[in-house]
Order: sequence, then C-alpha cells, then structure tokens
Amino acid sequence: MGPQSIILGIETSCDETGVALYSAEKGLIAHTLHSQIDLHAVYGGVVPEIASRDHIRMLLPLIQQVMDEAGIEKPDAIAYTAGPGLVGALMVGGGMANGLGLAWGCPVIAVHHMEGHLLAPMLEENAPEFPFLALLVSGGHTLLIAVRDLGDYEMLGTTLDDAAGEAFDKTAKLLGLGYPGGPLLAALAEEGDDKAYSFPRPMLNKPTLDFSFSGLKTAVMLEVRKAEASGELDACRADIAASFQRAAVDTLVGKALKAAEREGLERIVVAGGVGANRLLRSDIAERFSGDVFYPRFEFCTDNGAMIAVAGALRMAEASRVTEIQAKARWSLDTLEVPPSAEIRK
Ligand code: KG4
Ligand code: ZN
Repeated sequence: MGPQSIILGIETSCDETGVALYSAEKGLIAHTLHSQIDLHAVYGGVVPEIASRDHIRMLLPLIQQVMDEAGIEKPDAIAYTAGPGLVGALMVGGGMANGLGLAWGCPVIAVHHMEGHLLAPMLEENAPEFPFLALLVSGGHTLLIAVRDLGDYEMLGTTLDDAAGEAFDKTAKLLGLGYPGGPLLAALAEEGDDKAYSFPRPMLNKPTLDFSFSGLKTAVMLEVRKAEASGELDACRADIAASFQRAAVDTLVGKALKAAEREGLERIVVAGGVGANRLLRSDIAERFSGDVFYPRFEFCTDNGAMIAVAGALRMAEASRVTEIQAKARWSLDTLEVPPSAEIRK
C-alpha cells in the first residue's frame, strides 16, 4: 500500500449514499452521491427503515458508476462509515464493504463519520496541516476539537442540548419552511434584516466552550407565535430567519475564536453540514487572525469522498478480517493515532 493505492469510500450513515475513489497521489478520482431527501421530506425527518432500504437499492450501482468512471476493476482498499449513525443504514455500507473486500481480496477500513467530516478539507488544494482547531457542526453534532494529529483529538466543547444543524432545522420548521431546513433558512435569511430581532447568544459570554441552542429556539418560537397571532408571520419570516442565523453564527464563531486562542491554535477547520453556511464561513474568516479551512460546499454535508480520504490516512489500520462494524454512538476522542504515521507521507 502506498500513495498510489486507490481507496473506495462508502458513506451510508444517514440519508445520503455517498461513494468515491481517492488516492494520496492523485487526490479525488471519482465521486457520486445519491440524496434521499425527497423520500424523507414528506415525513419531516429521516425515517431509518426507509434510509436503509434506499441505501440497499442505490449502493451497488453507485459503486459500479465510480469504478467505470475511473476505469478500474477493483480498488486497493475499501473504507466505510462504521458510525456514529443509524445502525440499519450503517450496516448496509459495512456489509457491502466487507463483502466486496472479501470478494476482491482487499483490506477494509472502518471510518468514524465525524473524523471523515473533520478531514474533508484535506480533499482541497489548500489543505490544512496539523494541528488545528475543528469546529464540527452537523445535524447531530456541535463540537470544538483540538486536532493535534490524526487520531489525537481533544474535545473542548460540545452542545448541551440541540446540535447546530438541529437548531437550524427546528427553527426552519417553526417558520414553516421545508426539510431539511438549514439551507432553506439560510436562503430566506438573505432577504431579511438580521437586526430586526435581538435573539439570545446562548452562553457566549461565559468561559465555557460548550454550546446551548434550546434558549435561542424558544426565543424564536415566542416571536413566531406572536407574529402568527397578529397575522404578520409572512411579513416577518425573513427577518426572523436572518436574526436567528445571526445569533447562531455569532455563538459558533465566538466560541471557536475563544477555543483557538485558549489552545494557541493558528488554524481553524470548519466542517459538517452547517459548515456550508455562507455567513458562518465569511464571518469566521473575517474575525480570525489565523487561517481558516473548509471543504468545498458539496463536501460539507455527508459524502463518500471524506470517508475515502480518512480511509487513505488510516490505511495502516486496514484489516483483512471481516467484521462488520456499525455503531450508533461512538465518541471521537476514543480514536487513536495510527501505529505508523508513515502512510501519510
Ligand atoms: O453533516 P450533515 O450532512 O449530516 C449530519 O451528519 O448530520 O449535516 C446536515 C445538517 C442539517 O441539519 C442541515 O440543515 C445543515 O446541516 N445545513 C445547514 C446548511 N446546509 C446544511 N445549516 C445551515 N446553513 C446551511 N447552508
Ligand atoms: Zn455528517
């Protein structure tokens, strides 16, 4: 295994089937993604059983598609998301990865989904070097992590209640926007006045690096009810969205800057679905004196490319033993630095 080894990355932890081929030498070779958003939208959230079934339907054809595009018969290793996520959905990717690994006689690597997110900027030309501060903001997580090396992660802060993406999604729901609400709310916010409402910046001025979004959500709910009662919700919707987004972004950026300063870190990586938020990206770049790195927009949300790049970096751990791993919960700080860092060179 060397830098020319081609890794097949498989992501099936939630509602996106993501597949990619990557090698350290060539970078991203091919990638494709099938989103299940339309299937779940009618229910207003992800339905686990429907997610698993659709991964089964789509995964093999998508793998075939990237292999045809790259013109290869088989990869040198397979990386799949082993958690955290929906267990049924994870088992589809894990079962496929191990089955193909056995058939092709190639090693299989179990990847942590959030490590995938935090390594996603490594897919870009302007890739960060270790160490850096990671602000990982997705539908299920809000984490500030001191990333000192691959696998050396110190959790500095997390959310005490809702995740950042969840706060965006729930606020969008209150405003009567569709699912998933984060991007819709962000789009609506562009038309609104972010000073129209002064929503709380929860815990921003406290020394803790933890977050809490439930107070902000309640404040929005009260304003939505008021506007509904006076029949003015349509007129206020964009202003509420803009003011909410401003408060959420101020909180995320404020805490990230505090964490970077406290840890003496000169680079910040912003990743995860909410990392696609334009205000968050521009604000943090403006206010941080060091360098800020993010994945391109499409690799902020779930995708196979981030799993392939994480797999490439963790190639030393590849195993020929077929044991399907699917963990609903899995803390990032239980990961270890790989036995040999050589593989990264
Ligand atoms: O990382 P991700 O694709 O899935 C998880 O692992 O959770 O993140 C999805 C989350 C959703 O809550 C979605 O609403 C949010 O990211 N999101 C955004 C934006 N794009 C996606 N939130 C705010 N602004 C956006 N532009
Ligand atoms: Zn994710």
